[in-house]
Amino acid sequence: MRMLSGHRGTSGGPSPPSSRSPGRAPSAGGSWTWAAGPVSTRSWPAQLGLDVTGIDLDEAALLIAGRKLAERGLTARFLHLDARRLTELDGEPFGTVTDCELFHILDGADRAEYVHGLGSGLRPGGRYFMLCYSDAQPDVPHRVSLGDILAAFAAGWRIDSIEPATIDTNVHHTGVRGWLAALTRTCEDAPC
Ligand SMILES: C[S@@+](CC[C@H](N)C(=O)[O-])C[C@H]1O[C@@H](n2cnc3c(N)ncnc32)[C@H](O)[C@@H]1O
Repeated sequence: MRMLSGHRGTSGGPSPPSSRSPGRAPSAGGSWTWAAGPVSTRSWPAQLGLDVTGIDLDEAALLIAGRKLAERGLTARFLHLDARRLTELDGEPFGTVTDCELFHILDGADRAEYVHGLGSGLRPGGRYFMLCYSDAQPDVPHRVSLGDILAAFAAGWRIDSIEPATIDTNVHHTGVRGWLAALTRTCEDAPC
């Protein structure tokens, strides 16, 4: 089983979908995408014995992620890849993508490219778990509304849940208001 993973940033992130999201646990048998996800607190996919691949634009972040995984006796494949170019990933489609604080960075055409790449890289029925900043938080640079999420995944996706979430950071003592979304690739928009 394969999985795609990323680096560990400074802020906290989602717990494993099986424990935090109301959706199904990550699908077994498929591969995983963990886009730009940190590793030190988000190494759970690798801890589950999954085949993990992580991506990030920042090579230093990938090195840190690899080191932190190694400290835990875990391994993953790390790729220096732009999330807007997920269509360039080779191999079998992924079964699960986790995205912690990447979606909200990308907007406009960048977000559309990213979602298109997600759609092409996830197998039919594949799951996408996403944690992003909410527009309910006034003092963050990237603020996403519920409507933004609905619009981004209007075609080819089933939205299983979108819930308010609190994102731990080392800047905001009470955390940052965010969204935790769980979606399933349906391929209604185009053949998968
Ligand atoms: C806010 S940090 C989140 C890091 C980590 N997921 C966490 O929760 O701590 C965003 C990460 O996304 C990466 N990033 C930004 N744009 C990207 C892109 N187009 N493709 C891949 N990674 C990107 C940045 O390098 C950074 O590591």
